[in-house]
Amino acid sequence: MISGVVNLLALTSPLFMLQVYDRVLASGSVPTLVGLVVLAVGLFAFQCMLDILRARVLLRIGERFDGQFSGRVHDAIVRLPLSTRMPGDGLQPLRDLDNVRGFLGGNGPTAFFDLPWMLLYLGICFLFHFWIGMTALIGAIVLISLTFLTNGLSQQPISDTIAHNIVRNGLLEAARRNAEVVQALGLGKRIAARWHKANANYLAANRKAGDVAGGLGGISKSLRVMLQSAILAVGAYLVIRQEATAGVMVASSIMMGRALAPVDLAISNWKPFLMARQSWARLEDLLAKVPEPAPVMPMPAPERELRVEGVTIVPPGEKKPTVTGLAFAVQAGSALGVIGASGSGKSTLSRAIVGAWAPVAGKVRIDSASLDQWDREALGRHVGYLPQGVELFDGTIAENIARFEDNPDPEAIVAAAKAAGTHELILRFEHGYETPIGEAGSALSAGQRQRIGLARALYRDPFLVVLDEPNANLDAEGEAAVVEAIASVRERRGVAVVVAHRPSAVRAVDYVLMMEGGRQRAFGPRDEVLPKVLKAAAMAPGAGVKATGSTQDNV
Ligand SMILES: Nc1ncnc2c1ncn2[C@@H]1O[C@H](COP(=O)(O)OP(=O)(O)OP(=O)(O)O)[C@@H](O)[C@H]1O
Ligand SMILES: [Mg+2]
Repeated sequence: MISGVVNLLALTSPLFMLQVYDRVLASGSVPTLVGLVVLAVGLFAFQCMLDILRARVLLRIGERFDGQFSGRVHDAIVRLPLSTRMPGDGLQPLRDLDNVRGFLGGNGPTAFFDLPWMLLYLGICFLFHFWIGMTALIGAIVLISLTFLTNGLSQQPISDTIAHNIVRNGLLEAARRNAEVVQALGLGKRIAARWHKANANYLAANRKAGDVAGGLGGISKSLRVMLQSAILAVGAYLVIRQEATAGVMVASSIMMGRALAPVDLAISNWKPFLMARQSWARLEDLLAKVPEPAPVMPMPAPERELRVEGVTIVPPGEKKPTVTGLAFAVQAGSALGVIGASGSGKSTLSRAIVGAWAPVAGKVRIDSASLDQWDREALGRHVGYLPQGVELFDGTIAENIARFEDNPDPEAIVAAAKAAGTHELILRFEHGYETPIGEAGSALSAGQRQRIGLARALYRDPFLVVLDEPNANLDAEGEAAVVEAIASVRERRGVAVVVAHRPSAVRAVDYVLMMEGGRQRAFGPRDEVLPKVLKAAAMAPGAGVKATGSTQDNV
């Protein structure tokens, strides 16, 4: 609508010109001139206002678009690593969203709104004179073909640019994450060289895209100027032949410029347009891959058992399963210890039990409902998980333990910390529970992180508590805390699953699951399984449980 009025108002300038030439100059009337000037100034001011209004509206349309999709895109970025491997730093979808919003909010779309009005201008040119119309039409056809050419030539370089950008960002992100290793091993130069190479590729692709756009943009601009002169020439010829007035000549030249301006604008905005289009295609793809979870029925709090039925797991982005055919069940009020060599699939199993990775076959059930029948958030309240590489979030210790709940319960936080034997440790910090832990807990030692991660796992007494090597970084006090925590889960009739290399944690469990090469080697009550496992390990040195020797000492 606004575009329509803006375009109609754009006729002011050529018509003003036409009137000045043909009326004012012919009659020599100053009052007419003054009247025309006042009218034209008014119309120009109105047009200016509408232009500003249009820009503001577009900006807000861009924002609305962002508001509509940013939530789902954020969700997809967070959930996608659980099902596929994401290239680069995994943040491309966010940049894609920015691309689309930026394009929608910029002046690119105006070109497309203005394009249909070209017909009006061309029509007026034809009204002036057939040949003026023809010249304008031919000019328009040439420029539009140029637009198609731009489109064809730009697609590839632009998608290359984005692909190289993803690689480039991924390298930098990895180097940033591992800054300490880079510094300690003196990898700075080599890492930088790898990045520079990726950056050079990116710049080359970007240059190619820019050259195409710039070259064709330049050609279109000069063509437009040339066409304006051409139409002036045609007009002059018609004036000489007395087939048109001088006013028509000048007005048609301006009209022509106006008619072709959107084509010009379109060509110069073609790169952002294509980028936005490709970004949108990628986003659609992404959102289709990560559909919004369907609403599910609320379930009663679990209270009976954890059951794993023929579970086979393929890590995200992989083809071959790393864990196959696991089947066991653990009743409420008991704890399971998972043992096995490095790479035998213990962590993979833990991820499946807490529902982080979905099994390709089989089911993990809590009280007969399989995990995929649960609403994620609802299930999360009944699950405590301490991953092998503890990941905390920027925030305070209290916020981390309370899982960033909106209204955390201070008593529950302290209770969780106490259950994890972490309360005193936290109070030793100057700001206690309010201590900010830095990005990913960088302000804490590995052991402190692990203890706070344990408290987070125990917050609000979840039914299922899965601890993946909880004592990896712990001192004796920490190990005792883990044993205590397992005991407390059993006491309050929850289920604890503990992955352990060292036997001290296995001391507190009722069942033992022995993993080997992604398979379940043995499962049963601890006192039945452990002796068998140890015997087998003794017969085949190097196989079986890690740290076999100390296992015998402690069991
Ligand atoms: N994200 C992943 N992508 C591909 N393969 C994976 C991934 N995670 C694990 N694997 C593979 O799955 C197998 C089991 O790994 P897992 O981490 O479960 O072992 P683990 O028993 O926990 O070992 P550790 O005692 O060293 O922690 C390994 O061979 C590993 O290569
Ligand atoms: Mg592991």
